[in-house]
Amino acid sequence: MDARQYAAATQRNRDPILAILSEVLHPKSNILEIASGTGEHALYFASKLESCYWTPSDINPTSRDSITAWKNTSYIDNLNLPLSIDVTQHDWQQQVMGQGIDVIININMIHISPWQACLGLMKGTEQILPSGGILYLYGPYKRNREHTSPSNASFDRSLRDRNPLWGIRDLAAVVEAAAASNLQLEKVIEMPANNLSVIFRR
Ligand SMILES: C[S@@+](CC[C@H](N)C(=O)[O-])C[C@H]1O[C@@H](n2cnc3c(N)ncnc32)[C@H](O)[C@@H]1O
Repeated sequence: MDARQYAAATQRNRDPILAILSEVLHPKSNILEIASGTGEHALYFASKLESCYWTPSDINPTSRDSITAWKNTSYIDNLNLPLSIDVTQHDWQQQVMGQGIDVIININMIHISPWQACLGLMKGTEQILPSGGILYLYGPYKRNREHTSPSNASFDRSLRDRNPLWGIRDLAAVVEAAAASNLQLEKVIEMPANNLSVIFRR
């Protein structure tokens, strides 16, 4: 059975995200990806960022099977097998402490999970990253508590219908949560389709 899953959005957003990663990451970054989903991003980015090392992860076993299946289609040796990480667990970071992770990447998770997941991501990141390490977030955000487009407003409604604890986050609230975990906002970059790249430094 082929466990590979496909998410159409990854084909659309991978090159714009890659352009930012190529600019902000140092060439030998040791990257932990939280919420890797299908694993298509992990495979693509690891293949393009050849001198970086990429460790994917996800809370969902079906996603982890997909990530493993994608990895097994390739001969990429800078892509690790996926870890089982749920950022709402208080000790999730223990799995990777001491492994030299200096970049954490999280794409399209904090609006499709309870706010607790964003807080857990920040708290664990604070412990994992060395001084100067990078947390990269990608996704849709409200700014000044307003949606930035009608499509984001309608997406937000659909998320909340699926789960009242989900929803597009306000950038200022995310920046505040990061600051409480000693992660300073470095850069906000507008991306296609009303998304943002948000870069924090430890
Ligand atoms: C919309 S998908 C995004 C996946 C991938 N990053 C992408 O852009 O295609 C959201 C992902 O967040 C993961 N997720 C949700 N809650 C999580 C948690 N508490 N800890 C880790 N991952 C979580 C889900 O399993 C899912 O794979």
